[in-house]
Amino acid sequence: MTHQQDSDIWSEWVLRRRHGDDTGYRQAVHADVTRYADRVLDGARLRDGMTLADIGTGDGLVGMRAIERFGPSLRVLMTDISAPLLRHAAHRATERGVEGQCTFVEGPADKLSGIGDAAVDAVAMRAVLAYVEDKSTAMREFYRILKPGGRLSMAEPVLRDEAFEVCALKRMVDARPPGAGDAFFPLLLRWRSAQFPDTEEKASALPITNYGERDLVRFAIDAGFIDIHLELHIDVVPADPIAWDVFVESSPHPLAPSLKAVLDEQFTKDERAFFEARLRPLVESGKQFGAQRIAWLTATKSGH
Ligand SMILES: C[S@@+](CC[C@H](N)C(=O)[O-])C[C@H]1O[C@@H](n2cnc3c(N)ncnc32)[C@H](O)[C@@H]1O
Repeated sequence: MTHQQDSDIWSEWVLRRRHGDDTGYRQAVHADVTRYADRVLDGARLRDGMTLADIGTGDGLVGMRAIERFGPSLRVLMTDISAPLLRHAAHRATERGVEGQCTFVEGPADKLSGIGDAAVDAVAMRAVLAYVEDKSTAMREFYRILKPGGRLSMAEPVLRDEAFEVCALKRMVDARPPGAGDAFFPLLLRWRSAQFPDTEEKASALPITNYGERDLVRFAIDAGFIDIHLELHIDVVPADPIAWDVFVESSPHPLAPSLKAVLDEQFTKDERAFFEARLRPLVESGKQFGAQRIAWLTATKSGH
């Protein structure tokens, strides 16, 4: 009998680290991502009896929300590379009594071999392409599995800009004479560069930061889509106050270590105390600014 893995890096993040394993923060995150799922679903233009593919479904967010909104005639294919997450999504579907409407397909977004040509009316995806190495092949796969006239609707974070902010911080820190200036910034850089690349060379070598919103449009054009529409939303707003213990357990994306892991592994005891004294009041008072950059793309497969 093959041993089933209970968790992997993807399930660890989606089910725990995204919200610092805290119930209150999880509810806040869930409210946010449900709004995003709704907007993605609006772009998919679903109707009764249609079939939707939710690529990189995670805990089933978009697919399950689609069933909630469009009822029992909708069929949903949920794909993911993470077997633990697919099992979790299947469990949620059973709990809700909608498992008969769902099919679970394990595999990467750029090789959807479990799904036939022209099998679905809509492809929805939220925060997944960022992690796919070959984004143009993935986009061609979405085109292949869509019926003529079918809709693609996706929302992707533009994490490259986060990396550029860390690059700017590194340039600022590196330009200072050793030991001069505020000791907080080198420590801030140590933490941030554990989560995002700190040079443009590193950023262009990583799938999560080597593309921008215009590249998404190009991938869609190259795959053959028509009626392509992209909106970039940038919000720079004070982050909601978060308890320090929850904040340190969370991380901004699945490939990023938590602040706690960085503090444990890369900070001395004194550095840690100094850094916490400066950062903690900002985190707990909601005076920290958070930037969110999301590219919303919709497109249609030609040949209706
Ligand atoms: C940030 S989570 C988003 C999950 C879900 N779509 C949501 O909106 O909550 C990223 C998801 O992409 C999946 N993933 C990562 N790399 C992938 C790949 N190459 N192909 C398909 N899914 C992938 C992960 O397992 C994870 O479920």
